[in-house]
This record gives sequence, C-alpha cells and structure tokens, in this order.
Amino acid sequence: MEIVSTKPFLKVLEGQRQTVPPVWMMRQAGRYLPEYRKLRAEAGSFLKLCLTPKYASEVTLQPLRRFPFDAAIIFSDILIVPYALGQVLSFVEGEGPKLSPTINEGNLNILRGELNAAIIEPVYETIRLTKQDLPPGVTLLGFCGAPWTVATYIIAGEGTSDQAPARSFAYRHPEVFQQLMDKLVDASIEYLAGQFAAGVDAVQLFDTWAGVLPPAEFERWCVAPAARIVTGLRAKVPNAKVIGFPRGAGMNLKNYIEKVPVNAVSLDWMIGLDYARAEIQSRLPVQGNLDPLALRAGGAALDRHVDAILQSLAGGPFIFNLGHGILPDTPIAHVEQMLARIHGRS
Ligand code: CP3
Repeated sequence: MEIVSTKPFLKVLEGQRQTVPPVWMMRQAGRYLPEYRKLRAEAGSFLKLCLTPKYASEVTLQPLRRFPFDAAIIFSDILIVPYALGQVLSFVEGEGPKLSPTINEGNLNILRGELNAAIIEPVYETIRLTKQDLPPGVTLLGFCGAPWTVATYIIAGEGTSDQAPARSFAYRHPEVFQQLMDKLVDASIEYLAGQFAAGVDAVQLFDTWAGVLPPAEFERWCVAPAARIVTGLRAKVPNAKVIGFPRGAGMNLKNYIEKVPVNAVSLDWMIGLDYARAEIQSRLPVQGNLDPLALRAGGAALDRHVDAILQSLAGGPFIFNLGHGILPDTPIAHVEQMLARIHGRS
C-alpha cells in the first residue's frame, strides 16, 4: 500500500506542487533569536545545548513558536558524527569548531568503525521529545553532513576558507581518503536510519563545501558517496525522503541530480533561477534559494528577491528556503517580511 503524505512539505517531496510553497530556513534555530541566546547561555556551551535533549528539543521548536514555518530541523551539528567516531570536539567562542587529533594518511584507525551510542543517543532522544510537541502539519527534519564536507573538518581540525587540507589529502592519498569516505558513508547511513527510527519525516544531506571540487573529484567525493548513502539508507528505511544540498555545485549540479536518487535538491543563491527551473526543477522538486544577505538587508531588495524566486519556482514542486544558513545579525522583522511576502500578505 502506498502511503500518501498529508503534510504539505512532504507532498512537495513526493513531487506535488503546493499553491502556497512550504517554507523553512537553514539554521532557523540560532543566534538571531533572543530566546536561543538565552537558552544557549543557560546551557553554558554549544555542545551541551546540542547533547541535552530537553534543551535541543526546545531550541528546535523555538522558531516554530514565532513563525509559521512548515518544517522544524533537529537542533544539532554535522560535527557530532566525527565526535561520535572518536575525535575530540569543541566549539571555541568566536573561533568556531575544533576537532582533534586531526586525521592524516597514517592515523585513520583513530576513527571508530561505529558511532559512539553515548553521543548519538541524545540526538535520537531529542527527536522523540520534539515529535511530542510538534504542531500538526509541520514536518520534522533530521540531517547529517555529507562525507566530503565532514572530511574537510576531520582533516583540517577546523573550518578553512578553501578546504585546502582535505583537497590536498585527496590528491596525495586517494586510497586512504577513499577509506575515510567509506567510514563516513557507513556512519551516515547508520545515523540517518537511527534518526528515522526515532521519528523524523525526512532528512537533509549538507554538502556545504561541494563547490570547491573540480568535476572528476566532485563525482568521486560528492556524487558517489551521496548516492551510496541514499541507496543504503533506503535499504534500511524504505522510501526514506532525502533532500540533497551540494552547495556551490554550479555546473556539476545536473550530474548530482542524475546520479543521486534524492527526492529534492536544495539550491544555493548563486544558481540562476531560469536555469534552475528549466534544467533542475523539470526533473525533481527544488528548495531554495534566497541569498542570506538579501534577507539581512531587508527592504525593497528582500521583496524583489523573494518575488523573483516565487515567480521562477513556485509554479512547480518547490520549498522556499535560503541558499545557506541565516546570518546571526539578521533582524527578526526581515524574517516576518519574507514570510508575509511568501504567504501573499504584503
Ligand atoms: O539548521 C538548523 O537550525 C539546525 C542546526 C544546525 C547547526 N549546524 C547549528 C549550529 C545545522 C543543520 C548545522 C549544520 C552545519 N554545521 C554545517 C552544514 C551547513 C552549513 O551551515 O554550512 C556545518 C558546515 C557545520 C559546522 C559548524 N557548526 C560551524 C562551521 C560552526 C561555527 C560557525 C557558526 O555559525 O558559528 C558551527 C556552530 C553552529 N552550529 C551554531 C549553530 C546554531 C552556532 C553555535 C553558537 O550558538 O555559538
């Protein structure tokens, strides 16, 4: 028996256009919200916030209490996976994430074969708690980082501007790099299947740094692992719904959607809207792609960008989102302005 979804967001993932497009924002729980900053201070650290289900669930629901979003994304971080594989993770105030020891061609065995249950169980508990309080009709999203993006942090031990450490590693030691990818593919399948078992409706695969790779490397380190994850996940969770986000894929985007059996693809703001409609949305549902800087700017620029996106993409299966995460200094009034425009009230 085929189960047909009743949530508008999930209907789009099944290919059905909605008259008013469902909407959510990447990083919708976060520092632009005073209630987030308050709970973050109470928790003491970002990691404590992520790994305490009571806090993480509350933070997940905060944006839903303020805005009529169609989805909630579980509050966590993509770096929980390397943490659960044995690296030490910390978030240094003002500097971002740090992972240690960094992985090189000689110490891949530092990473465990399986995720540490003590670290990922709180994520599953967060999902179960959130599910109890989720407004009806709202979709619950899980996520993980794609292997390439997670590897850039595993290898550099922190964020870098051009992901040079991971790119160099992959050129110099492709066999070892492949083994790292294999570990991350297996861990991602296990982790996403666990999230579905705990109650998420769909998941997003974040490949934030996909855009730095030349076509052959994009094929090997972004497309192939993502395809294995989606196929492996569906072997455990039949019909699991997955959104792919290969940020910056540009010319490589078509290759991604041809080979990765995702239900929808999330578009960054660099992609042209005419191209997105004709070449991507004609093949599968799309999500995106407001420039977070246009949201932060507000005013006429924001209206113009929202209108252009709706004009181009709302005629087909479409979920409104940003082209990347909301910036911490974005005024809340601009989020309200964006939502009113999408919902046809301004
Ligand atoms: O979207 C959501 O609201 C869900 C939660 C979420 C976070 N990170 C919370 C977070 C998700 C889905 C992520 C994904 C993530 N984390 C990615 C992929 C997507 C993207 O945004 O590119 C990446 C590359 C990371 C790694 C990461 N986490 C970095 C580089 C940083 C520091 C930069 C920053 O914005 O501060 C984080 C920290 C982080 N993750 C914060 C939040 C809300 C800020 C922490 C704080 O409160 O101080």
